[in-house]
Amino acid sequence: MTAQKDAAYINPRTGALWPTSEPLWNAPDDGKYINLTPGAGLTPDDIDRNERSFWRYGVAVRLPQPPEITLGAGWTPLLPAAWNGTAVHMKAEYLMTSGSFKDRGTAVMLNYLKQVGITSIFEDSSGNAGASVATYSAALGLDCRIMVPAAAPAAKKIQMAAMGAEVISIEGSRDDVAEAALAEAATCFYASHNYQPHFLEGTKTLAFELWEQCGFQAPDCVVAPLGYGSNIMGCHIGFAELLAAGQIETMPRIYAVQAANCAPYHAAFESGGNDPVSITPQPTIADGIASAVPLRLHEVLSAVRETDGAIVAVPEDEIVAALRQFAGLGFFVEPTSGTAGAGLTRLLDSGAIKPNENVAVVLTGSGLKAVEKIGTALGLNDA
Ligand SMILES: Cc1ncc(COP(=O)(O)O)c(C=O)c1O
Repeated sequence: MTAQKDAAYINPRTGALWPTSEPLWNAPDDGKYINLTPGAGLTPDDIDRNERSFWRYGVAVRLPQPPEITLGAGWTPLLPAAWNGTAVHMKAEYLMTSGSFKDRGTAVMLNYLKQVGITSIFEDSSGNAGASVATYSAALGLDCRIMVPAAAPAAKKIQMAAMGAEVISIEGSRDDVAEAALAEAATCFYASHNYQPHFLEGTKTLAFELWEQCGFQAPDCVVAPLGYGSNIMGCHIGFAELLAAGQIETMPRIYAVQAANCAPYHAAFESGGNDPVSITPQPTIADGIASAVPLRLHEVLSAVRETDGAIVAVPEDEIVAALRQFAGLGFFVEPTSGTAGAGLTRLLDSGAIKPNENVAVVLTGSGLKAVEKIGTALGLNDA
């Protein structure tokens, strides 16, 4: 197979198409988020087995030219572990260069934007996407400005600044930051990882990697935290490409986990409909997914419903317990990733996940990004 370069932008609501030779972050006809047309997936023979990053699947990652900078994103370990006596696999996405799963999406989005002439990156983030975008901007020589909540973990903000990004702290919630960024988008190119679809072109490689690491099979299910959905959607897109290419027989069930204190997708899922359900968010230790206003709501709901998965909401004490449990197994992850463990416990207890199933749990962010918060939660700040 030769590299697939035939992606076009598509508005999933109107079906309108645009070429990817000009950068877009949203759909010109209705201003909402935009997608890429579906990719063709790949076969085991298409994999570049000498490449120890997700670019081993480069044939199926649609970019105008080969990437200038990869920073080695992807090809993270899938590690066996026992969770409450059940054998599962932990996908250690926090082992990427910037310390979170976001590097898959950023590596594709920023290489693409540079190739089509963007020199200045403006983004908003709860912290990890910004840290990742700042990292790749530094490596690619792009100017970078990131809006973040003033209360974002200091480690994430310092990480961005160390990479040379201008960090703009906004008072208020994650949704206030997103609103401020949208206002700013009128004046510059908004390299939003939640709108710009090349980000999902990168996060879809999670699915390719799980498929390869499971012996060219899909796991029975995937459990991952859900904020705006870049990981959940990437997983769904990648496995859907593999299904369409005849490489897997069924989609894995996708289980998305939200903090109960801020769970708008869960509320919409439970309503049985596709419309947003207004929630009153409460503070959560899971700062990476503390977004009360959903973006790709319909798509995320379809991804979990079509695969027979679910959206689970977990309370704060269970997130902290899962964080402790992860650490006890050797996985030092950030509180946001703890939600996946708390969700897994609930899904095992309810029987939704059976003990003999092949389960992949996505560990999205490094605990090193939230040391003080973890210290407080686990009562270790005097350690
Ligand atoms: C550590 C971590 N896990 C999960 C997520 C959720 O990702 P998404 O918003 O794409 O659903 C985030 C988002 O920033 C994150 O930082």
